[in-house]
Amino acid sequence: MKVLVVGGGGREHAIVHKLSLSDRVSELFCTPGNGGISDIATCAPIKATDLTGVYKYATENKVDMVFVASDDPLALGMVDMFEKEGIRVFGPSKEASILESSKVFSKNLMKKYNIPTASYETFDNAGKAIEYIRSIDMPVAVKADGLALGKGAIMAHTHDDAVNAIRSIMDDRQFGDSGNRIVIEEYLVGREVTVLAFTDGRTVVPMVSSQDHKRAYDNDEGLNTGGMGAISPSRIYTKELADICMHSIFRPTIEAMMKEGRKFKGVIYFELMITKDGPKVIEYNARFGDPEAQVVLPLLKTDLMDIIDAVIDERLDEIEIEWHDKAAACIVAASGGYPVDYIKGYEIEGLQNIEGAEDVFVYHAGTLKENGRYITNGGRVLGVTATGDDLDSALAKAYSSIEKIRFTDMHYRRDIGKK
Ligand code: AMP
Ligand code: GLY
Repeated sequence: MKVLVVGGGGREHAIVHKLSLSDRVSELFCTPGNGGISDIATCAPIKATDLTGVYKYATENKVDMVFVASDDPLALGMVDMFEKEGIRVFGPSKEASILESSKVFSKNLMKKYNIPTASYETFDNAGKAIEYIRSIDMPVAVKADGLALGKGAIMAHTHDDAVNAIRSIMDDRQFGDSGNRIVIEEYLVGREVTVLAFTDGRTVVPMVSSQDHKRAYDNDEGLNTGGMGAISPSRIYTKELADICMHSIFRPTIEAMMKEGRKFKGVIYFELMITKDGPKVIEYNARFGDPEAQVVLPLLKTDLMDIIDAVIDERLDEIEIEWHDKAAACIVAASGGYPVDYIKGYEIEGLQNIEGAEDVFVYHAGTLKENGRYITNGGRVLGVTATGDDLDSALAKAYSSIEKIRFTDMHYRRDIGKK
């Protein structure tokens, strides 16, 4: 089977790598891909958002299945386009991926179906939002409605911070049209867990849990990033919590989407805050997380291709999904200055030091391959994943491996996965 994966980050490298291990996959393509992906798949420099370009490439190469892995093409309706043309495709439709692409939609859905989440108000007018801020206590979370590369949520601890957040999103349009509307919500206190799940619209099968580290610097300091590292499983997600989440969040969400006429098929991402009142949804995403995919997929025992088929054909209830009883840790090596300003184009050295190391895999994110050398080409550059019998051994292996890699101004957090 010929498979095309759409996207070009660490998550896509993890997906392409997992698919490369399937006996059922004969050839892999990726648009646009990156330096590391180009070692195991044919890459073409077509933007994930170029729907017609990707369609043309898929048909020219006679691909049998397209896996839409990143958020922008999902929100633009890439899945609908392939379905209309009769090409098998994995991912939610445009109507379903609104769960991620509009926070106003997802918050209203949770309210309507009694799914636990932070209390909130929505605004399409900066003046009204500021007036509201003056009337409530801090802290709050101020969020742009639309997609913002994981950076559209601002935690405001003072009234001035909140007003500045509203102005930068709505007046200065820091996130463009994504900031036409905003959500202002209650600040939740607790510990975060990510649960990704496969769903065919009816059945929902959670994967092993994980935890991302979104802030740029150690001790959760600095700005929110796309994610600086992840562990799987989470240290705090017990079987009891999993049961509560299944009946109060996971199933109700899938059922709610069906009732709304927005059947959700693909991977759904539940970002949860475990509060003293129980688990609450921070947000949904309509895809694998990045870097969560880089810790969850290495633990998947079942052939990913079999799961993809079961989701597309809506018979997920018929298959058993198995996991290795291990742990995984991923440490992201970022360009100095990320998530704000950073320089690209540095040579990455030392990768050969960990090539072939047992239980260690380097997922490329922002890299290019030129004349056999890997060059930095983005904010998040690499994700070094290691697996082990427990989290501490996975973390130790991931850290000893990342120390062998170098590029100018390379930055990584030293406290990923700490208790
Ligand atoms: P989001 O873009 O909604 O995933 O938010 C990014 C990060 O901001 C989350 O991972 C949380 O750490 C934090 N966050 C978002 N919403 C809230 C909230 N209501 N209360 C506390 N922290 C939040
Ligand atoms: N790591 C967060 C995300 O993928 O949205």
